[in-house]
Amino acid sequence: MKIDGTPYRSIWVDETDRWSVRIIDQTKLPWAVDLVRLTTLDEMAHAIRAMLVRGAPLIGASAAYGVALAMRVDGSDAALSQALDVLAATRPTAINLLWALKRMGSCLAKLKPEMREAAAYEEAAKICDEDVAVNAAIGRNGLALIEEKAKAKKRVNILTHCNAGWIATVDWGTALAPIYMAHDAGIDVHVWVEETRPRNQGASLTAWELGKHGVNHTVIADNAGGHFMQHGEVDLVIVGTDRVTRQGDVCNKIGTYLKALSAQDNNVPFWVALPSSTIDWTIRDGLADIPIEERATTEVTTMTGRAMDGSIATVRIVPTSSPAANPAFDVTPARLVTGLITERGLCDATEPTLTELFSDLA
Ligand code: MRU
Repeated sequence: MKIDGTPYRSIWVDETDRWSVRIIDQTKLPWAVDLVRLTTLDEMAHAIRAMLVRGAPLIGASAAYGVALAMRVDGSDAALSQALDVLAATRPTAINLLWALKRMGSCLAKLKPEMREAAAYEEAAKICDEDVAVNAAIGRNGLALIEEKAKAKKRVNILTHCNAGWIATVDWGTALAPIYMAHDAGIDVHVWVEETRPRNQGASLTAWELGKHGVNHTVIADNAGGHFMQHGEVDLVIVGTDRVTRQGDVCNKIGTYLKALSAQDNNVPFWVALPSSTIDWTIRDGLADIPIEERATTEVTTMTGRAMDGSIATVRIVPTSSPAANPAFDVTPARLVTGLITERGLCDATEPTLTELFSDLA
């Protein structure tokens, strides 16, 4: 997608030195587009942990390049296994991380150490290119849902939570891909962007992305989503996900479950967009078996933004003596999910339909 007319991906190999890895530091958005250069395994691990890069598919792609950076220094078995371990420990919930590391590990383990650097860069680039193609397919498949709504009314109102746009993937996004395609096709689409406390991925990232692409949107407090659904102002909910189980339970940014409940109560279709790399075929029960990341409570007790004098400021909003808790994700049971938008098409959030659509992976 473009930033002020220039096409970007969210991660790429530096054009000049051809080995370091460039990312857009997402902790600086929307106030600055800071293109950071990462040169070591540890820098990449930090970038994932501290959420300079984030979003399940981008976490996977970043980890793949983290392995490549490690192999550049040392292609031994010990270095490979250490790189895989360090990266696997960065964030626990998004299964794309383990998916990408497994793929890198099995590609590299069978090669001689001296072959591993080149092969790692090649495999990481493949993971990125495939992600772009897969998300474009998700966009085309999800577009059909928006086109259907557009037959009945001029403006289609879509609610989304968190950021599942192009900067959460390598390009296009998952939940936002159908929205970009609908906008580009001339459909009058308007997006309710939930701010997504505590880190505000909606207010800071989704609003920024949509604005850069010229998509009509309105930022709302997380608590306002149900109200707009009750008043018939949401035609569809589309969200992304960090892990989907065999039976279609969906883990996504904290607060997603509440939107699914409101959507069901108001007969609003609740769709989840995902690449097949987000499906964890090893588990069924999302509530029991998906590890939920607990992040620092300072994400809850403070907020960062631009002060009136233009400086970036972090302020505390909770009494200093009050404890806080910060689960980063929640699980929406499959029964609340209208359907899944995948690269192979739309399907029900059930084990038979998922395993039929992905019989080669399940
Ligand atoms: O903690 P984050 O910002 O990495 O969480 C991101 C989300 O919850 C996204 O909805 C999900 O990763 C899908 S991204 C296409």
